[in-house]
Amino acid sequence: MWKIFDEGHITNIAVHPEYRENGVGSRLVEKLVSIAKEQGIVKMTLEVRKSNAAAQSLYFKYGFREQGCRKGYYSDNGEDAIIMWKENV
Ligand SMILES: CC(C)(COP(=O)(O)OP(=O)(O)OC[C@H]1O[C@@H](n2cnc3c(N)ncnc32)[C@H](O)[C@@H]1OP(=O)(O)O)[C@@H](O)C(=O)NCCC(=O)NCCS
Repeated sequence: MWKIFDEGHITNIAVHPEYRENGVGSRLVEKLVSIAKEQGIVKMTLEVRKSNAAAQSLYFKYGFREQGCRKGYYSDNGEDAIIMWKENV
């Protein structure tokens, strides 16, 4: 996560495929939100691939909501990015 003034930008979260769907991703997001609070961060954001339903669902669970789209954001396949924000951290 990058800290930019009072905003936190989650750059990446990943769990080894053999350990997914066991709550590890949730604990990582919870810890990031906790660190953000300690750092005085008030809003958090991230980009996620449009096709990545698992990650979108994870972030939604922690209060991130879709606020926009970056067309063709991912250079490997030209996929759009969904921009999500969590307010009132
Ligand atoms: C996204 C990722 C980090 C989730 O990690 P995880 O350890 O499996 O997550 P958890 O077990 O804590 O699941 C948390 C929530 O994620 C969502 N989720 C996880 N796997 C899912 C799946 N296969 N399908 C749909 N939703 C899923 C659910 O909302 C779940 O909440 P629930 O358990 O209350 O239903 C993991 O799938 C991953 O590493 N993916 C590849 C990397 C990636 O896409 N990172 C995000 C880049 S922005």
